[in-house]
Amino acid sequence: MNRKIMIGAALPYANGSLHLGHVAGLIGADVLARYFRLKGDSVLFVSGSDCHGTPILFEAEKQKTHPSVIAEKYHREFVETLIDGMDFSYDFFTKTTSDVHRETVQDIFLKLYEKNDIYKKTERLPYCKKCKKFLPDRYIEGKCYLCNFTSARGDQCDGCGSLMETKKIIDPKCKICESSPLWKDAEHFFLRLSGFEKKLKKMVKESSGWRINARNFTEKLLHQGLHDRSITRDTEWGISVPLRGYESKKIYVWFEAVCAYLSASKEWSLLKKRNWEDFWKNKDAIHYYVHGKDNIPFHSVIWPAILLGYGDLHLPDKIISSEYLTLEKKQFSKSRNWAIWLSDFLEDFDSETLRYYLIANGSENSDADFSWEEFSSKINSELIGNFGNYVYRTLSFIEKNYKDGVVFPENPDESSSSFLKLAEDSFPLVASSIEKGHLRKGLQAVFKLVDYGNRYINDKEPWSTVKSDPQRAERDLAVAAHVIKCLAVLISPFLPETSQKICNQMNTSPDNLKWIYPSPEKVSVKKTNPLYKKIDEEEVKKQLSLLKK
Ligand code: MF3
Ligand code: ZN
Repeated sequence: MNRKIMIGAALPYANGSLHLGHVAGLIGADVLARYFRLKGDSVLFVSGSDCHGTPILFEAEKQKTHPSVIAEKYHREFVETLIDGMDFSYDFFTKTTSDVHRETVQDIFLKLYEKNDIYKKTERLPYCKKCKKFLPDRYIEGKCYLCNFTSARGDQCDGCGSLMETKKIIDPKCKICESSPLWKDAEHFFLRLSGFEKKLKKMVKESSGWRINARNFTEKLLHQGLHDRSITRDTEWGISVPLRGYESKKIYVWFEAVCAYLSASKEWSLLKKRNWEDFWKNKDAIHYYVHGKDNIPFHSVIWPAILLGYGDLHLPDKIISSEYLTLEKKQFSKSRNWAIWLSDFLEDFDSETLRYYLIANGSENSDADFSWEEFSSKINSELIGNFGNYVYRTLSFIEKNYKDGVVFPENPDESSSSFLKLAEDSFPLVASSIEKGHLRKGLQAVFKLVDYGNRYINDKEPWSTVKSDPQRAERDLAVAAHVIKCLAVLISPFLPETSQKICNQMNTSPDNLKWIYPSPEKVSVKKTNPLYKKIDEEEVKKQLSLLKK
């Protein structure tokens, strides 16, 4: 069965470097993409850099340069760290400053405007007399009218996660000069979200496979009732409203950023001579969206509303939203410099160790924490002590003692058969976990097989049978090696480089991997090497002291 799988990973803001918390919210998308490709499905995995919006303008003002310089700088950094560094296998990684994106967004805007799903209205907006400008909602800070959180932003409250109506925020202040804004009339364009409420309720009701946080949060929003939202801003940086006389107004960054899933698909189509419609105008396609929990309403309400308004395009199916990652139990913070930057991490460590840690400790249902102690202990004891050890001890033993390889037995004994059965059963088990977005559970199932493997070798003691009963030793080792072939497939979505290394040591090409239980065959082994390097205590101490500086 060849399915069409579209996977959209959130577009990071191009206003700053990525830290491990960002990666935690995105890694699941790569696991999904790699898994479905192995399964033989057609995958379109897209993302990009979110280049517009006030945070970038902020940063440009601070650095006294043009916002496009900032956006380009971080776009390049994202490509280096996410694609080259973390091995994320995007089919296309766009940026929202691209021509195709602008054309796509303007086309969507016009179509919705023609259908009256976007309309013009004059409203009173916060205006700062001192700064002499209308204040975009991120420039407003005040008390949340729902939960009393004291630093709610004009667009969203980080205390309770709700979208804010700027007007209702208690005691609002201009974030630049801290004076209280005036309210002045301004004409803007609005997205008629209220008109989509019924259809969205139906979509949510019929959906399955959303992370629980996305479902709960979206149901709450729909229950509260949707309000129309203004989707234009008076700012110089962004995509212009495509209507004569309104070019100076820019389309709100969230409205246009989510459109990048579609525009990236179109760009991919042009570049690779493929067909984006296969994924977007196909009711049997499956669309996954992967992001952190602060992104939920934009993927579960706003983007579906835009798609419903545009018509004829596939709606989101699976919303995979992660909870947060903390660092040594405290929130990541750029301003307090409490962060581990991805580029720094990748200079000192193997990306596979981060992939392992973030998936095994995944913030799937509750917040997760990164701590250097736990990182080194998990890597040393689980990834190396369990997985790496099983692979290396088995393969190196075969290399040393069986120059011509080992032949799989015709009649495996009972303990071997149960081991092989567990390996075979792991394929559907891990598959269903991944497809449901339960990556942590999927990885756990792979490691259960590895646990079994280490016990199998301990019980079989090939180091003594190789002398007393060499044929038996060969049979047992062939079984153990066959399971490693299974592991090369099973681990591949999670740890692609590990899978490649195993394939190289086993004389098989990583390009031929498929998500099916492989048929047993003679195994020969060459150039075995430990898969990973241990993390030593000194390194942990060094990292901790860097963090606390
Ligand atoms: N830039 C946003 C963030 O970093 C995510 C945008 S996702 C998109 O939180 F779908 F809107 F593009
Ligand atoms: Zn709040």
